Amino acid sequence: MLLLVKSGGEKALPEWQAHFREADPRLDVRYWTDPSVRPEDVRYVLVWEPEEGRLSSMTGLKAVFSSGAGVDHITRVADWPRHLPLIRMGGKETVQRMGEYIVWACLTLLRDMRAIARAQAESRWLHHETLFSAPQRRVGIMGLGNLGAAAARMLQGLNFPVQGWSRSPKDIPGVRSFVGPEGLPDFLATTDILVCLLPSTPETDGLIDGKLLAQLPAGAALVNAGRGPHVVEADLIAALDTGHISGAVLDVFVQEPLPKENPLWSHPRVTVTPHVASMANRRDRAAYVAGAIAAQEAGLPLPNVYDPEKGY
Ligand code: NAP
Ligand code: GLV
Repeated sequence: MLLLVKSGGEKALPEWQAHFREADPRLDVRYWTDPSVRPEDVRYVLVWEPEEGRLSSMTGLKAVFSSGAGVDHITRVADWPRHLPLIRMGGKETVQRMGEYIVWACLTLLRDMRAIARAQAESRWLHHETLFSAPQRRVGIMGLGNLGAAAARMLQGLNFPVQGWSRSPKDIPGVRSFVGPEGLPDFLATTDILVCLLPSTPETDGLIDGKLLAQLPAGAALVNAGRGPHVVEADLIAALDTGHISGAVLDVFVQEPLPKENPLWSHPRVTVTPHVASMANRRDRAAYVAGAIAAQEAGLPLPNVYDPEKGY
């Protein structure tokens, strides 16, 4: 069974091949641009940002695997095969790593590490008063799916009060659930650290704008590890400059890589990470994909399938 891979560049192919061999030796794993591959022979793809015209040429394809949890990098391509299952990356490692990032980001904001790092860069001994500890900062997670629910549990372990906002109600012990547009104002009014773990859809892009930020309590902070287009960057900078938003940790941006001239790079209240919040190691991702392919071949249900009705 031919599986084409485009994730991590051609240099990553030997590693992918070794992990897939271990997970399922029946898979013949080749790189995306392998000239010896006939498109009609490809049965599965594991891909990040396919180029236009490529997927529709693979007429024998059975399923498309996203090498990340988000699938917006595939669904924005005009010819992605809508009749086939599109599978989001899942698995324990993706969830664990995102939880670690969100915990780190909330602690970074809590301890004002951006100010301390700036002082260190200037060899300046900063007398810095820590204003709050975890039980005094309410974390509100937008998106309580695979990643948001696990991050909530990890934050609870540090005694952060946690609540979440999603399309459908959730029953996570100790996590207050707010639902849909009608639940949003109350959710925002009671959130001190807003964490975005939403998928990018027409409903969620541009959601975190000046109007939404103004509904957070004064001094609230933001973590965005969802997708760049969720945040209106100019509105965020304006809210940071007035001090209404006290700090932000941003992993994703409207344009990636973040252009050198973007003011977020040097903003004194912003910590930038280069879209590294959660990418599982290749062994785990290969095992996850091989498991799903085995399920598909056996006619069993697939995990984490994109739902065109919901758009994620
Ligand atoms: P998921 O399991 O599909 O969860 C998505 C959550 O968002 C669900 O709780 C869903 O509500 C909620 N949601 C979607 N649209 C909404 C709307 N219009 N209003 C309110 N809630 C809405 O996805 P996931 O695996 O947790 O991943 C989430 C996103 O994280 C990915 O799509 C990707 O963009 C991002 N991500 C980033 C990185 C990184 O390294 N920065 C890594 C992995 C993923 P329901 O539960 O009611 O459906
Ligand atoms: C990374 O951004 C992902 O979607 O997994």
